[in-house]
Amino acid sequence: MSNENLKTVLQEKRTFQPQDHFQKNAKIQSMEAYKEKYRESIENPEEFWANAASELHFFKKWDRVLNAENPPFYRWFEGGKTNICYNCIDRHLDSATRNKAAIIWEGEPGDEVVLTYADLARKVNQLANGLKKLGVQKGDRIAIYLPMIPELAISVLACARIGAVHSVIFAGFSADSISDRINDCQAKITITSDGVWRKGKKLLLKNIVDEAVKKCPSIEKNIVVKRSHKDHFECAMDENKDIWYHDLIENCSLSCPAEEMDSEDMLFLLYTSGTTGKPKGIIHTTAGYMLYSYYTSKYVFDLQPEDVYWCTADIGWITGHSYIVYGPLANGATCLMYEGAPNAPHKGRFWEIVEKYRVNIFYTAPTAIRTFMKWGEDWVNKYDISSLRLLGTVGEPINPEAWMWYHKVIGKERCPIVDTWWQTETGGMMITPIPGCTTTKPGSATFPFFGIDATILDKDGNEQDTGFLAVRKPWPGMLRGVYGDEERFKNTYWSQWENIYFPGDGARRDEDGYFWILGRVDDVVNVSGHRIGTAELESIFVSHASVAESAVIGIDHEIKGQAMVAFVSLREGNEGSDSLIEELTQLVIEKIGKFAIPERIIFTADLPKTRSGKIMRRLLRDIAEGRAVGNVTTLADAGVIDALKEKYQED
Ligand code: WT7
Repeated sequence: MSNENLKTVLQEKRTFQPQDHFQKNAKIQSMEAYKEKYRESIENPEEFWANAASELHFFKKWDRVLNAENPPFYRWFEGGKTNICYNCIDRHLDSATRNKAAIIWEGEPGDEVVLTYADLARKVNQLANGLKKLGVQKGDRIAIYLPMIPELAISVLACARIGAVHSVIFAGFSADSISDRINDCQAKITITSDGVWRKGKKLLLKNIVDEAVKKCPSIEKNIVVKRSHKDHFECAMDENKDIWYHDLIENCSLSCPAEEMDSEDMLFLLYTSGTTGKPKGIIHTTAGYMLYSYYTSKYVFDLQPEDVYWCTADIGWITGHSYIVYGPLANGATCLMYEGAPNAPHKGRFWEIVEKYRVNIFYTAPTAIRTFMKWGEDWVNKYDISSLRLLGTVGEPINPEAWMWYHKVIGKERCPIVDTWWQTETGGMMITPIPGCTTTKPGSATFPFFGIDATILDKDGNEQDTGFLAVRKPWPGMLRGVYGDEERFKNTYWSQWENIYFPGDGARRDEDGYFWILGRVDDVVNVSGHRIGTAELESIFVSHASVAESAVIGIDHEIKGQAMVAFVSLREGNEGSDSLIEELTQLVIEKIGKFAIPERIIFTADLPKTRSGKIMRRLLRDIAEGRAVGNVTTLADAGVIDALKEKYQED
């Protein structure tokens, strides 16, 4: 969290109680009810999660709820057989939900698709059969590089239906990032589209995949969705390797039995950045993830049958996996999905959509809220957004000012706000208000979700008011590993303390027991809610012939939360210049994508180092943020995160 924001957070005293109109229909209506349910979930977790899981469909019931014999390799619902696609679709087909909208999709130019649960069933079954026709089998990996079009949700569900492991790659990643991920998991098939509309422009995606798969011998076929049968998106098709999605599914049967998956069979991989150069493939498995995304959606969004729910994330990130696709559909909810940018063709686009579809629940990122603040409330007030009843945020700490703006301008002081802390690794929300019962404080994620034994520890495992966030008990949605790298799984998450999960965030607990998440304590920077490892950028810079060394740090950014500043020292005989900055920027675009471009690149003769050779990032941050360089910190002031970082990184 930025220092300025942190200061305001540490002084924040306002509280907001749930209002009667929300509370009276809510699933959980009092703090006593929350506390009672929470107590049960912590005292008897197996009974608690077994009860919760009985709301879902298992082909065969589990033998054992939790196997904790070999930590950190926890196994949930062992012996059970289920299918998450079946639970998201088939489970609803015998009820009135059958003909309810599952997905309402709006394209950037305003085209629309509405799919009922029965429609979605047909489309998913057809594609599942199409994949089978290409020889895809249970356990095969499929790389999905699609924009926010209905086929993205359909592809994810079709993979899950037949037990293929999907690895969705956010459509802002470069060809190099795609090939790294494909090669890491040895995917057999890609699913992409000819293009997408982005801010009124056509963005060609298949080209990028073509570039990527040149370096991916494991790829057998590329399935290509035609974004539009009306507008032409330039796209070269190789007749041996490429196949149009619509050709593939033509004549495919509308029914495909859902594979009976073991509870612990792999469901998907999602790559995320860590402290070292290489992104890691986070593994999620079937039953536990299914239950956790279902159950958190149900209680945190307080889903009611008639709700229209909109999460503005991209399915390319975990938020979209858990809270656009799996969680809401497992609940039989109506999910809105939007292709484009919030300012295309105008800055009121989101509110226009809320008005048009009468959206009731809206889930977005603090960086988006700060952007709307900058654009001004006139854009909001042009539309009737009175349908909204619940607001949520995710992805980064929210500063109280943005929280208050969200509360007033979007929520009209009527809607509860759920500030949900979680991670790719946790599968679902971990620390979050429950909207009908939790009194919120602007900037605090409040209390742990059911079954989550969260606390704050120091390096040695002693409880503290300020320190490292920690989770003492396993939970169903937890990651099961890092693909192909067991050591990294153990080292990153389980080596700080014994059998306690280490998320990598700093946190504080106030006198009322509220959790305040302070930001990453490792070298991961959160730019507009996108997680970027500073080491990833550093290794890109040093791959340039002129660069000797590089250190990348995160600094405060008014809109993005954090931005990256790169310090670069050059090899003898080279000089920093605008054209070198341009070259380094191009390298970042090529290796990762535009969203990872640092705010500034600063050439420096040397990097400040400790005697043992460690780069002193805190000093760099002071320089980049224009503060007097110093090392004075006390835990109560804004240096708290830096101080934690230093502790964490001590040898
Ligand atoms: C990191 C995880 C969870 C989906 C989106 C990001 C930060 C996330 C919050 C929040 C403060 C938050 C943490 C976390 N973060 N939500 N409500 N308050 N910080 O997933 O890319 O895996 O990033 O995002 O630092 O560790 P991710």
